[in-house]
Amino acid sequence: MSTTHGIRTVGVCGAGTMGAGIAQACAAAGFSVVLYDAFPEVLPKAMARIEQDTERQVRRGRLREEQRAEALKRLQTTSELTSLARCDLVVEAAPEDLALKKDLFGKLSAAAPSAILATNTSSLSVAEIASATPKPALVAGLHFFNPAPVMPLVEVVQAPQTEPEVIGRLVEFTRDLGKTPIVVRDSPGFVVNRVNRPFYSEALRLVGEGQVDYQTVDRAAREAGGFPMGPFQLMDLVGIDVSYAVSLSLYQAFFGEARFRPHPLQRQMVLQGRLGRKTGRGFYDYQQPPPEPEPLPLPRPHPGPYAVAGDTQLARDIFERLWQRGFEVTQLTSPPEGPLPVAAIFEAEAEDRTRKRSFLTALDRWTGEDAVLLAACTNASSAECASWVRRPGRLAGYATLPPLQDRKLLEWTSHELARADPTPYLAALGLPLLRVGDAPGGVFPRLLAAVVNEAALAVDERIASPTDVDLAMRLGVNHPFGPFQWAERVGVQALAGVLDGLRDYYGEERYRAAPGLRRACWLGRWPQR
Ligand SMILES: NC(=O)c1ccc[n+]([C@@H]2O[C@H](COP(=O)([O-])OP(=O)(O)OC[C@H]3O[C@@H](n4cnc5c(N)ncnc54)[C@H](O)[C@@H]3O)[C@@H](O)[C@H]2O)c1
Repeated sequence: MSTTHGIRTVGVCGAGTMGAGIAQACAAAGFSVVLYDAFPEVLPKAMARIEQDTERQVRRGRLREEQRAEALKRLQTTSELTSLARCDLVVEAAPEDLALKKDLFGKLSAAAPSAILATNTSSLSVAEIASATPKPALVAGLHFFNPAPVMPLVEVVQAPQTEPEVIGRLVEFTRDLGKTPIVVRDSPGFVVNRVNRPFYSEALRLVGEGQVDYQTVDRAAREAGGFPMGPFQLMDLVGIDVSYAVSLSLYQAFFGEARFRPHPLQRQMVLQGRLGRKTGRGFYDYQQPPPEPEPLPLPRPHPGPYAVAGDTQLARDIFERLWQRGFEVTQLTSPPEGPLPVAAIFEAEAEDRTRKRSFLTALDRWTGEDAVLLAACTNASSAECASWVRRPGRLAGYATLPPLQDRKLLEWTSHELARADPTPYLAALGLPLLRVGDAPGGVFPRLLAAVVNEAALAVDERIASPTDVDLAMRLGVNHPFGPFQWAERVGVQALAGVLDGLRDYYGEERYRAAPGLRRACWLGRWPQR
């Protein structure tokens, strides 16, 4: 195989889940592969897995039989480190243990002194691993995703001491594997594991606080957000122990930064041995067929008339939708100054909390006793909104983000003083209703705002470019949009609104908006790196 990167023979060190997958991907792409494991008994099992997996690919028409036979011929296994001497690149996929990896890298650099050494670590410092070798300039990270033969993304990790030429060669090599490389700086969790952390941690918090159950979180993530899987389904798939270990490692690596604090629920699940699909039980029980999710209620809508209050994209979307659905509806882009004869009002100042408050107080003043106030609870809880009006009993909340056409359900919420049933009014939007807890941002807006904020922080810290972060999140965890694309779609101000609401509600720094996100709110564009 002729290459510009000069890599022909690849050593893979560690023949477990990732090592076997990486070896298979390299062999299938035409590289000679030496698969090494310190425990010889592991090797036949790894080969059997590769044989079965490639056989399945042939059955599914993704690989021809001759290609499979050729690929298997290119694969050799060994339990002798010296067999790696002829490799141009060694990818290490041994257990996630710093001392073990450092020891191994010392030995690898002696066994293959001129080879590029790449670690597949998910969360350890590449620079620290490299420090165990005499030539740290030749050490980088190559972070594959599971299952390695299938997942298209590879994070190519540049540590401070890595020679830029090494990164260039690894990028080319990754492309030759048929994968998409993104170059990331050596920083805890790189891009995907870091930026996706809040997807889990906010979900765990919502459940831990008793606001909602995990099925509700998953449903909101899927049907309101369009994520292919909810956070609890994803934790079950990845393994709750694996996800917990990554949380712990990031938390330690960021010196106890609150955003990365693991949740006691994760530990509890691990202690019970409920690790997810691999043990038959995690948050869900896989020994039994999953019950069909109950259909969500969509009550008969109240005939109106309605008003929509606010000068935001959300307000414009709600107005449009009510109007298209044939309801009489008035649009208010500033607080009313005279009587408003309506049955219900959607307050949609989902961005600025000061404007929200002046809207709600004016609406409370100028509407009849029976008019129902539906507050956008993206940037405030319904309890806080209720505290701003004289008749809190008629106020309830809903939490969503524009564009409304992307949503397949509407999250709604209420508080201790509520008397009116808001559901016939909310039903005017024609979306099935899902009740969630009463903290700002409900479920989907909160998950998304936290993910986008983490992406913005990573870009602020120059871990990767916004374009690469978008690519990484789409290819690495199948998000329907990258965080920056998503921010563009829903409006960065709406996301800042969620974060500001959460920060006020909890009084916690973890919801502080990233400087880059704040600047994007003011200037309409993300800082360019
Ligand atoms: N599993 C994932 O989803 C995933 C995804 C991305 C990255 N990673 C990273 O990949 C690495 C491997 O993870 P895994 O899930 O494949 O682990 P694993 O436990 O399935 O495999 C590890 C393999 O390393 C072997 N090993 C142990 N000590 C060794 C040594 N001193 N020298 C050589 N081999 C040794 C073991 O026998 C085993 O076969 C870890 O750093 C992990 O963080 C894992």
